Amino acid sequence: MILRGKNVILRPVKMDDAPRFVKWFNDPEVYQFIKTRGINLKEERKWVKERISGKIKNDLFLCIDTIEGIHIGTIGLHRINPAHKFATFGITIGNKTFWNKGLGSEAARLIINYGFTKLKLHRIELDVYNNNPRAIKVYKRIGFKREGVKRQTRLQKGKFFDTYFMSILQNEWKGNK
Ligand SMILES: CC(C)(COP(=O)(O)OP(=O)(O)OC[C@H]1O[C@@H](n2cnc3c(N)ncnc32)[C@H](O)[C@@H]1OP(=O)(O)O)[C@@H](O)C(=O)NCCC(=O)NCCS
Repeated sequence: MILRGKNVILRPVKMDDAPRFVKWFNDPEVYQFIKTRGINLKEERKWVKERISGKIKNDLFLCIDTIEGIHIGTIGLHRINPAHKFATFGITIGNKTFWNKGLGSEAARLIINYGFTKLKLHRIELDVYNNNPRAIKVYKRIGFKREGVKRQTRLQKGKFFDTYFMSILQNEWKGNK
């Protein structure tokens, strides 16, 4: 499945992507904000192979490419729960030169719109560490609301950070404008 925006394209993962995942998930500037870290190429290839096999259900994992075709990150709606109509959102732009250019916001809007309009989800949730004001800004702008805090869950360079739980409901989604 492909989702096409003005500046980004979301497309399925392919084996060629694996080395970039390894690079990104071993970069401290990137992994300070996410759960995945320290993955090697062998593990990553196995993971990609599993994804390509189509055996993983209820999980929409896509790669973010620029409109010019540069692979810059990953995005997904994970653990899709068809019974209760919710999923967990995640995004990583691993190529740091593409941070702060509006591409994360655009990619997020594309997949969230797909979640609400095509998958007919009722709720999309996420968690984010409070050392990540950039991501929090993007999520608030899209319409995510903070619904909870787990205090001091993340130790980063000797300092503890909180985990914020955020969600958006289908009737709060203003469309992909
Ligand atoms: C978080 C992430 C997806 C955002 O995507 P992006 O393309 O960089 O973000 P955008 O350019 O769409 O928007 C970022 C906004 O945050 C602002 N921002 C950047 N740094 C900021 C900071 N330290 N404090 C507050 N706002 C900040 C930018 O100015 C921009 O706002 P603007 O559009 O009003 O100028 C991307 O940076 C990323 O993947 N980072 C690393 C991994 C990560 O954090 N993943 C999310 C885990 S929950």
